Amino acid sequence: MAGAVLALLLPLLAAMAASAQDDAAAASARGCAGEAFSANRAYAACSDLPRLGASVHWTYDGAAGELSVAFVAAPAAPGGWVAWGLNPSGDGMAGAQALVAVPSSSSSSPGVWDVRTYNISGYALGEPGPIAFPALDLAAELGSDGRVRVFGRLSLAALGGAGVLNQVWQVGPAVTDGVPAPHAMAGDNLAAKAKLDLLTQTTTAVSSDDGGDSIAKKRNIHGVLNAVSWGILLPMGAIFARYLKTFRSADPAWFYLHVTCQLIGYGVGVSGWATGINLGNLSNGITYTLHRNIGITVFALATLQIFALFLRPKKEHKYRVYWNLYHHTVGYAVIILGITNIFKGMAILGVEQRWRTAYVAALCVLGFAAVILEAVAWGVVAKSRRAESKTFGDASNGHHLPRSV
Ligand SMILES: *[C@@H]1O[C@H](CO)[C@@H](O)[C@H](O)[C@H]1NC(C)=O
Repeated sequence: MAGAVLALLLPLLAAMAASAQDDAAAASARGCAGEAFSANRAYAACSDLPRLGASVHWTYDGAAGELSVAFVAAPAAPGGWVAWGLNPSGDGMAGAQALVAVPSSSSSSPGVWDVRTYNISGYALGEPGPIAFPALDLAAELGSDGRVRVFGRLSLAALGGAGVLNQVWQVGPAVTDGVPAPHAMAGDNLAAKAKLDLLTQTTTAVSSDDGGDSIAKKRNIHGVLNAVSWGILLPMGAIFARYLKTFRSADPAWFYLHVTCQLIGYGVGVSGWATGINLGNLSNGITYTLHRNIGITVFALATLQIFALFLRPKKEHKYRVYWNLYHHTVGYAVIILGITNIFKGMAILGVEQRWRTAYVAALCVLGFAAVILEAVAWGVVAKSRRAESKTFGDASNGHHLPRSV
């Protein structure tokens, strides 16, 4: 079983390392930081988007859940349109909650543009309408440099504290009777999507070895360490204890296997926990309170488990049953909270679906192994009970399921 889990984990680790490099390549250096806006607008962070010569500028107020944003891009042709949006449900056009800017139909001045919101459900723009994020102060203007600047304030309260979001953007060649004409289907148009990182309010367009890149790496390391330790090794160690115990021949091997697995899991988990505390300190002003508190609780309970090992009464001691009750309760609590927090962390970092799928698959392998072992263990107990009642006429204490404490 350990082999199967490892076989699942290795490609996961390799792919995560590869994606950290992709992130680094995407954060190339150009010049969003030099952008100036009308009406004294200023933003805490900016990012040069990798396609269509666009950039996005933002200030995120984590406490209020409000995102002030400016999007800058040139329409594909004079008289065309530009659009930017967040996609809470995927990483492409379908599902995007978009701001679309078109030349004003009511003003004769070419510099005045209108902004409309679109809840895009498929691969057609559809009609303007309300979007998932209440939008205020929408405005757009065409600069003398031929680029359009789109402004707005979005309430992200509905997302409940997401940190890394999917953004999409687009430029089109024409607007007919106020309706944006379809955009080109070139590679750059189709690839105009990226992450918008609200956790680091710094400009991500300085150089390739800037802070943004190293934070992305730290996040990946944090995620892998915690998923492997709290999310896989500790449940695996619990399975060793629960089922191997059933076999007389596995005594005391199960105990050493259990302790080894949990000690390694704890060691890796504590380093993952420390990277999390570090990341929390780096994300200036934005705290994921629930994720942080669950993390601290898991760490505290797991530390307690390590100390409890040294306070374990002897097997025959009358208090042993209470110790067992305590040990199992805290142990299962650590595992449940740990797994919950891994999913919370994946939501905060907006990880791609394939990571979630990979982790769920690893959990399924563990769960499947547990079910099989549960059945085998019951079989062993039933068989030994029958054998013992035949031979000795009483049920000895040779085999027992660790069902009760
Ligand atoms: C956006 O469209 C989807 C699917 O058409 C719908 O379920 C959702 O309620 C819409 N959102 C808003 C804010 O109207």
